[in-house]
Amino acid sequence: MLSDKLQKSLNDQITHELYSAYLYLSMSAHFEAANLPGMARWMRVQAGEEQAHGFKFFDYVNERTGASRCRPFPSRRLTLARPRPSSSRCSSTSRM
Ligand SMILES: [Fe+2]
Repeated sequence: MLSDKLQKSLNDQITHELYSAYLYLSMSAHFEAANLPGMARWMRVQAGEEQAHGFKFFDYVNERTGASRCRPFPSRRLTLARPRPSSSRCSSTSRM
């Protein structure tokens, strides 16, 4: 059995983990649109990791009390700067 305080904290953490996954997924879409598939793939992997964290907390709480709560995400606007064009990136040989 979890204390009310611990259960609330774990439920808050579930929200944070899943919100992080959502932010990473948003960044993945941003990089995909900017034709940066490697960055998009990396962000998507991060989204999956955060989702897995959230599910672990979710399962942990459910196994002990059956009282996981899915709360709404905080209302924030995500603004991503436009990435620099890929032609401006330095190659490893240009720095030598
Ligand atoms: Fe996490």
